[in-house]
Parts: sequence; C-alpha cells; structure tokens
Amino acid sequence: MKITVIIPAAGSGERFGGKKQLKRMGNRPLLFHTLKPFIASELITEIVVVVSKDDVYQVERALKSMISVKTVKVVAGGDTRQKSVFNGLKVSDKSSELICVHDAVRPFVTEALIDKVIQACDKHDGVILAQRSTDTIKKVMNDQILETLPREIIWRAQTPQVFAKQALQEALELAEAENILRTDEASLLERIGYQVGFVEGSSMNIKITTEEDWVFAEAIYKSLNND
Ligand code: C5P
Repeated sequence: MKITVIIPAAGSGERFGGKKQLKRMGNRPLLFHTLKPFIASELITEIVVVVSKDDVYQVERALKSMISVKTVKVVAGGDTRQKSVFNGLKVSDKSSELICVHDAVRPFVTEALIDKVIQACDKHDGVILAQRSTDTIKKVMNDQILETLPREIIWRAQTPQVFAKQALQEALELAEAENILRTDEASLLERIGYQVGFVEGSSMNIKITTEEDWVFAEAIYKSLNND
C-alpha cells in the first residue's frame, strides 16, 4: 500500500518570533529531525513537505540531496495550516491510499509511533495519536471559568494523524467550500461523520510553539542524543 506523509512546515512562527522549523537543533535544522523517522520508515512511500513560498527552492535542494530512497516533493503552503495541508494533498501520489499528516514542529516522533498509528487504520477512516490530559481543563470566557471538563475523557491530540485519502480529500474540500477552519485534520473528518480513532501517543512527542517549548525540546534532544 502507498502512504504519503505531508509535513506542514509553512508557519511564520508568530508565537515564536521566527521560523522554528528551520532553526538548528544540535547541528541540523529542526525539520531534519522531524523527517528522519519518516525517511527511515518502510511504511512511508512518499514525503511531501509544505513550506513558505520563499523557502521552496532552498528546502527542495537540501532535501533532494539528502533523501534518495523515496520520492520527496516540496510545495508552497497557504496562510493557514489547513490550506498548507490541502496544498500538500493536491501534489500527493494519485495512487496513495493513506495520508499521514505530521507537524514539522514535533521533532521527537519515532518510527514506532508512526507504525502504531498506521497499523490502527484498518478499523477506522482515520486514526490520530493522542495523550491523556494530566491537567484539569477549563472552558473559559474572558477572565471567567464557564465549565470544568471531566478529565477522564479529555485527551490531547497530537500528530501523526493518518486518514484514508479519499476521506481527507472530501473533508478538506467541504471545509473550504463552507469556510470552516479547524486546527487539526481529524476534526474536519469528525465534523462530516467519519469515524476517527486514536491510539496513545507519547509525552515526548511535544509540539514546539513558544520559546519556552524550545527550551524543553533542547533538553529532550540532549537526553536522547546523550550530549
Ligand atoms: O499553527 P500550528 O501551531 O497548528 O502549526 C502546526 C504546523 O503547521 C507547523 O509545523 C507549521 O509550520 C504548520 N503551518 C503551515 N502553514 C500555516 C501555518 C502553520 O504549514 N499557514
């Protein structure tokens, strides 16, 4: 079976103050660390990286010299994550049956996590990684708490998120037509009645959004690389 991974990496890093996906961790850009397990995975047949228009040429050159074992495509993103993923989907191999979406800013994903989420796909239209919430989650408005959500049923969505290609395509097309914008792909499928499952992720699979996250990420990187 053919499986394409789409890596949205076209964020401007407003909350970070720069493009963290291209910032160096150790002596390589963060994007390199994120891509490594997908390059190594025998399940992934194609890699589509979505970057800002200005970075397409440079990233394409760097990746093509680094990856020879599978097809790599680099395309320009849109002004939202959702549009960037859609741009990636449009250039993916027509014969791919599954599409895996993974944030460029989650560099600690492993081959084992990629395998686990893909293997679970035979029972659902899509499957995501998620992590049990250890914090109590509050619904708020302005400075007021409206509701406390029961922690036992709260899970935090991570990526990779893997979907049947046709279902993701339909979900993205309908969302665009109806002007719906969501922060992950799973919610676009849930919205139109597809069954999305989840398997337990890892607390190491963090998303680097803020400068504080970078501090945590460097600590994880050092502990994993023993330096
Ligand atoms: O914005 P968010 O935190 O959800 O970003 C998650 C991922 O989506 C990041 O890797 C970021 O580079 C990417 N992204 C994108 N295009 C955008 C906005 C975010 O590819 N317009």
